Amino acid sequence: MADSYALVPVLSPAGVAAQAIAEIGWVLIVGATVLFAGTMALLAWALRRREGRAVRPLWWLVGGGLALPVVVLGGLFFYSVQRAPPWKAMPPPGALIVSVTGRMWWWEIRYFDSHSGATIVTANELRMPVGRPVYLGLSSAEVIHSLWIPALGGKMDMVPGRVNHLQLQAIRTGVYRGQCAEFCGEAHAHMALHAVAMPPEEFDAWLTRQALPATPEVSPTLRAGRAVFEAQRCASCHTVRGVAEGGRLGPDLTHVGGRLHIGAGTLTNGAAGMAHWLTEVHSLKPGARMPAYARLPGADIEALAAWLTSLQ
Ligand code: CUA
Repeated sequence: MADSYALVPVLSPAGVAAQAIAEIGWVLIVGATVLFAGTMALLAWALRRREGRAVRPLWWLVGGGLALPVVVLGGLFFYSVQRAPPWKAMPPPGALIVSVTGRMWWWEIRYFDSHSGATIVTANELRMPVGRPVYLGLSSAEVIHSLWIPALGGKMDMVPGRVNHLQLQAIRTGVYRGQCAEFCGEAHAHMALHAVAMPPEEFDAWLTRQALPATPEVSPTLRAGRAVFEAQRCASCHTVRGVAEGGRLGPDLTHVGGRLHIGAGTLTNGAAGMAHWLTEVHSLKPGARMPAYARLPGADIEALAAWLTSLQ
């Protein structure tokens, strides 16, 4: 399970693109330090200089004002163009193609299963196989969002009406926190996304499970939880495949119990977290469009939380 993967610090590069960005960053920092030290040494030399042959102004103008910047900036330009991750690469052969749509304030994620031809819809968690390029098609349903998973790569805006692309490739397993990087309204700060990089065979097994309809309920509590879901019309916004389909306003909950978090990174998943979310959604995530269900009897909330958590 994903729980065994460590959450990796955001500035520790774990992706091909992030490594290139980190390397360019270090070259810039070291280069700028050398230039700064050189300039200060020159200044100290000039201040201490009392006599001797005058330095010709033309030499300084041409050397320091023209030749040096051309060499340094030209070198940096060609280095960074050659080293930076490509902006609009076509998907490389064998890439996993995933579409991510920004919503207020969560992420809709779609996989296309090439074996069955099925589309698999999930939310807020980007599962990916280690070592395989993942080609993301990014868009938005209403306002501009921006996807940024710093440990894996640079960020890319998600603009309504167009599709931007971003290619990520994890080089080791782990959980990488991402964040919406473009102010998009009240709950912008609570719009996190976690990328989970898994061994390829585990990813394939995960994708196969995601394509299945919801787990059937096996106990009276779980049956009661499903009954609450149906009675409260949760399906007007949420799809649970095999139970109620067509709800598109909120995240697909078919396998919500198998995710690491609830509410786009707001809470750790589990029955307790789910019950907390159902009753206090607006204090946890101000602006969230889901109504709170604090008025329901505690037993109903517990059953609903247990049923949702069982949807692995
Ligand atoms: Cu979505 Cu900020």
